[in-house]
Amino acid sequence: MKIAIGCDHGGIVLKPAVIKALTELGAEVVDLGTYDESSVDYPVYGLKVAEAVASGDCDAGVLMCGTGIGISISANKVKGIRAAVVTNEFMAEMTKRHNNANIIALGGRVVTPEQAESIVKAWFTAEYEGGRHQRRLDMIADIESKYCK
Ligand code: RB5
Repeated sequence: MKIAIGCDHGGIVLKPAVIKALTELGAEVVDLGTYDESSVDYPVYGLKVAEAVASGDCDAGVLMCGTGIGISISANKVKGIRAAVVTNEFMAEMTKRHNNANIIALGGRVVTPEQAESIVKAWFTAEYEGGRHQRRLDMIADIESKYCK
């Protein structure tokens, strides 16, 4: 599995923990920045990771900003992306099982690096259940097709 990661200055505190978790899970990590704590604009990194996933270059992604919110909103503008803000292991597991989230977003001002590590592992190891959930994902894709040209 090839996992793209991206963050702004508000999320960079979580990056080492996210890389550690993904590496321990056997994933190949593609780090699309940012690379230091200088102030940057989170949509840049939301877009980079979303494009890497939507194009098929990477299998999934992890985003980090101060709350996980701005960067996930940015990523969700790209067709085919289901980016979910998660703040605990339960949300991480469920967003894979029910939403088949191909990106999770974490907040560097919300969760600790230790929590981030455990949240990434919960999402990565969970499996999408399909079935009735696929019907709902198809409905989301229909909304996307209607409004995203
Ligand atoms: C940057 O200060 C902050 O706004 C950003 O990291 C994020 O929390 C936005 O949603």
